[in-house]
Amino acid sequence: MAELREVQITEEKPLLPGQAPEVAKEAELAARILLDQGQTHSVETPYGSVTFTVYGTPKPKRPAILTYHDVGLNYKSCFQPLFQFADMQEIIQNFVRVHVDAPGMEEGAPVFPLGYQYPSLDQLADMIPCILQYLNFSAIIGIGVGAGAYVLSRYALTHPDTVEGLVLINIDPNAKGWMDWAAHKLTGLTSSISEMILGHLFSQEELSGNSELIQKYRNIIAHAPNLDNIELYWNSYNNRRDLNFVRGGDNTLKCPVMLVVGDQAPHEDAVVECNSKLDPTQTSFLKMADSGGQPQLTQPGKLTEAFKYFLQGMGYMASSCMTRLSRSRTASLTSAASIDGNRSRSRTLSQSSESGTLSSGPPGHTMEVSC
Ligand code: BEZ
Repeated sequence: MAELREVQITEEKPLLPGQAPEVAKEAELAARILLDQGQTHSVETPYGSVTFTVYGTPKPKRPAILTYHDVGLNYKSCFQPLFQFADMQEIIQNFVRVHVDAPGMEEGAPVFPLGYQYPSLDQLADMIPCILQYLNFSAIIGIGVGAGAYVLSRYALTHPDTVEGLVLINIDPNAKGWMDWAAHKLTGLTSSISEMILGHLFSQEELSGNSELIQKYRNIIAHAPNLDNIELYWNSYNNRRDLNFVRGGDNTLKCPVMLVVGDQAPHEDAVVECNSKLDPTQTSFLKMADSGGQPQLTQPGKLTEAFKYFLQGMGYMASSCMTRLSRSRTASLTSAASIDGNRSRSRTLSQSSESGTLSSGPPGHTMEVSC
């Protein structure tokens, strides 16, 4: 079970006499974060308590990377393979990471009492400011999968000034229509909750192939001690409201967005439609071959590379900071990247599909990656 630790640092007076309150606040934050090498915290919010785990130390002038996982998973089962992927290390060392567990999804979470009103996805999004306030962070780059992608998008719509970029994997921004509900009810007659959630996470082809990965996740979900909580998150996902993105309208994502979906994934059509509703100058669409429903689990290498270009497009991750291998792959994009403090705002993801690698170029591209 993950260690759950609240770090309470209360300062009754400044560290040094005459020290400005901002300096004291920064010192408090630094001290708090120093303790935060994968430390789990909980904060109270108007919708109940939420748990999150912080890795790394905050870097001045850099947003935190904040992740939000999908239904049936928690931050570890959703993101560990990506964040522990070798090539990812040179990226994430430059950012503090905040991995949110949806309420009741954290390891060792007690089962909610019968009748517990689980937060809606909109309310889950409204919990995020409490986390950022606790950590004293003002800006994020969000990475969300499925329900988590929806939550981060909702947060970005209501707090656009705090979101510098979004990586949205398998996002379905639409509320369920009556046809979807009918299909959902029919499936519910013959399938268990865990099979329905597996059908949301993975393609039918993957499920019938029953690879080791599928067996592992089937086992994790079917035997989850908090399966009742998972069902509540699943219900909130199925009751989501339409995000109502309107291209060119007020209700759209203002930040750079990288949409990601596997080319056989259950949510492929939804992501394609979502792409058509977002600002093409801000949005890149990465359709990944051979990645199934969970590209962050099955293709962490490709996703890492795409993420690197996404960050470069935002002016982070100068190519001079990268390994020789990465530099040779990105020789054509050095003009788009700049060093810290001199960030270009051009969005520069594109494809070089022949070789299966990505490079920087004009924004608003579709990339089909088949390495
Ligand atoms: C991270 O370094 O951000 C991380 C480590 C383990 C699991 C998930 C994320």
